Amino acid sequence: MDSSISRVSSGVTTGSAILPWVTSITTPRDHTIIPRPAKFVFATNTPRFWQGEVFGSRMFDAMQLAFPDGERMFIQSVRNYADKISDPVLKTQVKHFIYQEGQHGKAHSDFNKHLKSQGLNVQGSVAMIKGALTWFQKISSHKVQLAATVAAEHLTASLGEHMFSNDDKVLANAHPSMKAFYMWHGAEEVEHKAVAWDVYQQAAGGGYFTRTIALATLYPLALVPLTLGTMAMMYSDGELNVTELKKGARVMFGKDGLFRKTLPAILEFYKPGFHPWQTGYPDKFEQWKSAYQESNDADLAMQATLN
Ligand SMILES: [Fe+2]
Ligand SMILES: [Fe+2]
Repeated sequence: MDSSISRVSSGVTTGSAILPWVTSITTPRDHTIIPRPAKFVFATNTPRFWQGEVFGSRMFDAMQLAFPDGERMFIQSVRNYADKISDPVLKTQVKHFIYQEGQHGKAHSDFNKHLKSQGLNVQGSVAMIKGALTWFQKISSHKVQLAATVAAEHLTASLGEHMFSNDDKVLANAHPSMKAFYMWHGAEEVEHKAVAWDVYQQAAGGGYFTRTIALATLYPLALVPLTLGTMAMMYSDGELNVTELKKGARVMFGKDGLFRKTLPAILEFYKPGFHPWQTGYPDKFEQWKSAYQESNDADLAMQATLN
């Protein structure tokens, strides 16, 4: 585990002496999820390659194409179990989870309009994603849909924690407004990382195999359209060439590459005793959270995390 991730103590118990790899960890009872309205405006002069290089910028752009419809699916999959949640604390967390994901969907829809204004075929990609998700919801049980959300939430929280723990590397050269945008989304993913998990365990019956198969299916399935979407955007930009792809391979698979660095945290999901709160939260997430609480401003909260 990254040394800069601190452990929460409240509500966390560590487990079995007989099976030390099986832990019994729960969401802290006093953990709060804060509804924060999205207030982002994507200025037309925001650089097209806002990370200072082509691949990393377009990879984040391609990834977020799926967010508006993905977030709607996450919300629905949790809502399907709303009547079965008896814990009032979890009920409140679900309410705020739904608010946060709704705001993420709204903000990323706005960003998709910004991408469209750059001449990218955003509508085609979004329609394909929407079609795939609608089909998935049609053919899957509510439990499988929730397990997919649990797996996706683990991916977004792992990415968020990685971003806050390695902010000298991830988004290090990003345009400040884009960095603030992703830190806001990343922070809320960390903050609500266990909500879908707790609903899955408490209201849907839980189960190791359904959730692990969901992640094993979702992760490679997501990487294919992500890679193709990134390359399609680079092609539209006139930047699809060997030099940029080599740089992209480093961004993903190099020593500090996103894929390499997040994989160990992602694989933690396969431990039978896994719980999202076993990693606590990064110190800088706390810094961001209190700065946002004081200012109600994502730009100022982001700046407060810069040392
Ligand atoms: Fe989200
Ligand atoms: Fe989320």
